[in-house]
Amino acid sequence: MSKLWQGRTSGAVDAVVEQLNRSIAFDQRLYPYDIQGSIAHARMLGQQGIIPTEEAELIIHELQIILAELDSGKLAIDPEVEDIHTFVELELTRRIGAPGKKLHTGRSRNDQVALDLRLYLRDALHRILQAVDQLQKALYTQASQHQHTVMPGYTHLQPAQPVTFGMHLNAYIAMLERDKGRLQDCLKRLNYSPLGAGALAGSTFPLDRHAVAAALNFDGIIENPLDAVSCRDFALEALAAFAILMTHLSRLSEEIILWSTQEFSFITLADAHTTGSSIMPQKKNPDVAELVRGKAGRVYGSLMTLLTVMKALPLAYNKDMQEDKEALFDAMDTVELCLRALASLIDGLTAKPERMAAATRQGFLNATDLADYLTHKGMPFRDAYALVGRLVAHCLAKGCTLEELPLAEYQQFSELFDNDLYDAISLEACIQARTGKK
Ligand code: ARG
Repeated sequence: MSKLWQGRTSGAVDAVVEQLNRSIAFDQRLYPYDIQGSIAHARMLGQQGIIPTEEAELIIHELQIILAELDSGKLAIDPEVEDIHTFVELELTRRIGAPGKKLHTGRSRNDQVALDLRLYLRDALHRILQAVDQLQKALYTQASQHQHTVMPGYTHLQPAQPVTFGMHLNAYIAMLERDKGRLQDCLKRLNYSPLGAGALAGSTFPLDRHAVAAALNFDGIIENPLDAVSCRDFALEALAAFAILMTHLSRLSEEIILWSTQEFSFITLADAHTTGSSIMPQKKNPDVAELVRGKAGRVYGSLMTLLTVMKALPLAYNKDMQEDKEALFDAMDTVELCLRALASLIDGLTAKPERMAAATRQGFLNATDLADYLTHKGMPFRDAYALVGRLVAHCLAKGCTLEELPLAEYQQFSELFDNDLYDAISLEACIQARTGKK
């Protein structure tokens, strides 16, 4: 099989080495970026007089045809070729002959692959940002319908204080907003061009690195050529942001799973988002949410893969770095799919306000409000806290709620109690009295 690199060596490479070395199975998705980069490079070579302008034009024209043919499926990628860079260059040369061999002037696959990966990730991050928006919109639609839908708020998964379903969903919108901030931050740092760094030490040709960077919509160039070819922190940063994002999606998924249990019954999932069992006919399982929860682990794995690949690698390029792609692509695909599936799930779910209200009436969620009531009447909070603790125990023994306990009994605990206590501990009052509600 043809290679771009048989300089000093000769003869056939061991088949198992070919197999190990080959990255075309996964790096073929870089073809649009590889060709885009090659077009910008060829144009600059022509402009700088490094190759004749007519030959640069010929290269560009043919690369555009190759791109269109790959897009349409007319041209198939040869799975036996080493990598996507090799495939494009060989195909170009097969078609236009000698001028095709000039494309790689002043370039190495080391700066080429670093460029391709940045271009790919720039597009991919925009797609992820758009998918996060879509999930936020789905959450927002539900949240605005349930601004006043009271539900129990939990700490330690034990009933704590009343909140609203809207407020709960808004918390996820806020987390996702920070996720977007992290992704946008990553986009800013990755938007610099490595092209022109060559293999590791720059080029002896009068390349115009800035012209190439501008043509590819970068904000500038990576000055140090060793850094340009060695750096993968932009990919690590994206993976770290993905990992945090997946943590948020896994928490939301876990709550959806919990809320849709028979025991909670706070929500019903649309049939389209659930699956059944092959043996138990009554089952309606929340597989979408379970898979998103599970796939968080997979994305963490991709982050660990790349951290471990990059750890202690000496400068500059090492073939270890070929391992960056599968981790990055897999994480990218997984995150996008999870975001889109979850957006659809949220769109389709139905909240059950009456079940949430019923659960809120149990569990003494207004106990803090009752302590606050006494505190407003002059009792030190710590004493009020202790007194309400005794009242809760009293109610538990009687089998009633705080709202149901008669005033006469309240007054045996403290003379500060009056009829207005019932308003103070109504669920609506508990929600409204709190600042920061939403
Ligand atoms: N397929 C390679 C990769 O993904 C391209 C760069 C090859 N460079 C080299 N010096 N062998 O990293």
